[in-house]
Amino acid sequence: MISEKDFRVENYSSIEKASFECSAPSNIALVKYWGKKENQIPANPSISFTLNNCKTITKVEFAKKETQIEFSFDLLFEGKPKEDFKPKILKFFQRIEKYCPYLKEYHIIIDTQNTFPHSSGIASSASGMAALAMNVMCLEKQINPNLSEELFYKKASFLARLGSGSACRSIKGQVVVWGNNETIATSSDLFGVEFKAIHQNFKNFQDTILLVDKGEKQVSSTVGHDLMFDHPYAEKRFEQAHDNLAKITKILSDGNVEEFIKIVESEALTLHAMMMTSMPYFILMKPNTLEIINKIWKFRNENNIPVCFTLDAGANVHVLYPENVRENVLQFIKNELVVYCQNGQYICDEIGNGVNQLK
Ligand code: DP6
Repeated sequence: MISEKDFRVENYSSIEKASFECSAPSNIALVKYWGKKENQIPANPSISFTLNNCKTITKVEFAKKETQIEFSFDLLFEGKPKEDFKPKILKFFQRIEKYCPYLKEYHIIIDTQNTFPHSSGIASSASGMAALAMNVMCLEKQINPNLSEELFYKKASFLARLGSGSACRSIKGQVVVWGNNETIATSSDLFGVEFKAIHQNFKNFQDTILLVDKGEKQVSSTVGHDLMFDHPYAEKRFEQAHDNLAKITKILSDGNVEEFIKIVESEALTLHAMMMTSMPYFILMKPNTLEIINKIWKFRNENNIPVCFTLDAGANVHVLYPENVRENVLQFIKNELVVYCQNGQYICDEIGNGVNQLK
């Protein structure tokens, strides 16, 4: 079993300069991560579909510097300096310092961009932190060529988690589990693990993201997770997540789309129920979120087409459905759901494989 110690490095060489470019996708949770302990340890296990089109592409240059006292880095977003992203990155470097002691030897220039519209309300922290963690691992591989492929990806996920919990699910695999669960022997609180036993019915699953509200997040995820401390329903919720994880992994293997829908929609509503019943309390759905949910239920009942929804900590709706009903569902979205989207905007995505090293 891999433990935290395995991610420390003692022997590594030094190089003058290196640059890499990596892409990492976003992911959409089926069983939600909501609540965490010290050091980015999740309060419950979660599972997600890795996306394909919503990605962050990050270029990083490492140049050897004189002093090693502090981290030094520049951050560019779409080629332009972006000061307000820097505190989050600094915090990330501080959290991973113990595992990547070499980072302080370099001045680091990070240039990042997203394939999805900025401020679309789509979580960019998962793809962003996963892409950055991958670049760090590319450097580590260069200065420590003995690193095995297995440890490379596990550590990439481990580092990504320290940046943003859900980011550890964006490294490798179409379906990823993060968090200890007794039904999955390899599962870990430290990194995401690929769930491979996927039935044909879930291959190429589609996710169309309806942009209901592109405004700034009302609740940051850090504040959100904290709301699960002293939450009156927390313990039951964490138990339920364990049960749902065990159930959904079986369903993903057996191919039962009807049962899949029940768990996925219940998880989305539970996430929002937790927010509505915490102190302080929040309603992150908008009237149009509910309109869309009701339309999906009506369409599903009337047409017998297996389409369902899930939600993040916001008002946008992810519409999930098998590839073989794509034409029908896209037509339904255009005819009946686009009116509820801000400026009629939506993004077509589907299950993907995870990170790529581009350069
Ligand atoms: C609602 O991963 O953004 O999307 O670890 O504080 O960065 P931090 O939180 P984050 O939380 C995501 C919560 C969620 C559910 C999920 O993706 O599982």
